[in-house]
Amino acid sequence: MSRGERSSDPQVGPLAEAWSEAKAQAKVNLRLRISPPGPDGYHPLETIFCRIDLADRVRLRLRRDPGIGLRVSGPEPAPEGPENLAARAAALLLERVGLADGVEIELQKHVPPGAGLGGGSSDAAAALRLLAGRLARPPGREELLQLAAELGSDVPFFLADAPMALGWGRGDRLLCLPPAKPRPMLLLLPGVAVATEAAYAIWDECRRRPEADLAPEAVRLDSAALSSWSGLRSLAENDFEPVILARYPRLRSLLVKLRETGPLLALLAGSGAALFAVYGSARQRNAARAELSAELRGVRVLSVRGPV
Ligand code: C5P
Repeated sequence: MSRGERSSDPQVGPLAEAWSEAKAQAKVNLRLRISPPGPDGYHPLETIFCRIDLADRVRLRLRRDPGIGLRVSGPEPAPEGPENLAARAAALLLERVGLADGVEIELQKHVPPGAGLGGGSSDAAAALRLLAGRLARPPGREELLQLAAELGSDVPFFLADAPMALGWGRGDRLLCLPPAKPRPMLLLLPGVAVATEAAYAIWDECRRRPEADLAPEAVRLDSAALSSWSGLRSLAENDFEPVILARYPRLRSLLVKLRETGPLLALLAGSGAALFAVYGSARQRNAARAELSAELRGVRVLSVRGPV
């Protein structure tokens, strides 16, 4: 029997010890409305997720030694311990199916952390999918989705494998959408990292001020608007934007500059601190990129595409 095969353990599928590999794409939120937290401390959301082609690479295989072995490489950092979300995803799934084996994970990081792009959540969803694919009796789709929601609010979106989705609840209730036509985009990475939890704390703090200008509660969305760029443009807003830009004034001036390049829309990405813009054509995007790269110091400008 070759190294990749095992037949003795009924939990383990064929070729269990062979590597399997997946891309773990990032996301931006084309719309992100936040409501005050419920009794569980989480903020009810209304959001439009859009997957983009900036991606980490996740490789995974089962091993006989218990525990999770994680190696991180690539241009972006990620925790190398058990707190890494991909490692937590694998550990959670092993525990749920009662498998004593361990898992080796290789993570090649390209998605920056603390940017609002969901990189860690996407790695976790990829790890769940890859590991489930190595099991003889993997959990069903619904059960995997529950595990994803336990790992983080954005993980179900990445597990759903849809280029675009409307999200509500914590962001873990999803309506997969017919995707809008993929468009060229720019990402501005300003060298500031904002942790998600901190961003919600800043939003809470601003909301409690007497002068807080909260978004109206009543909402009406038209399904047709969710898959055309003209409709998405009219829905594009991010409730984190005013509070995060007030806290980080440099981001405000960057967003002004980004909007001056004439995109279809430009927003803070998720809870920040990346900014993104969507353009009508690659020519417009490339011109904007050349202009911004020449003008901005200490800011990385990346060309991406979405929804993908
Ligand atoms: O779910 P996730 O682990 O990504 O969330 C990180 C933190 O962000 C949570 O601990 C919570 O403080 C906050 N959060 C929230 N409301 C949401 C999503 C996240 O308050 N809908």
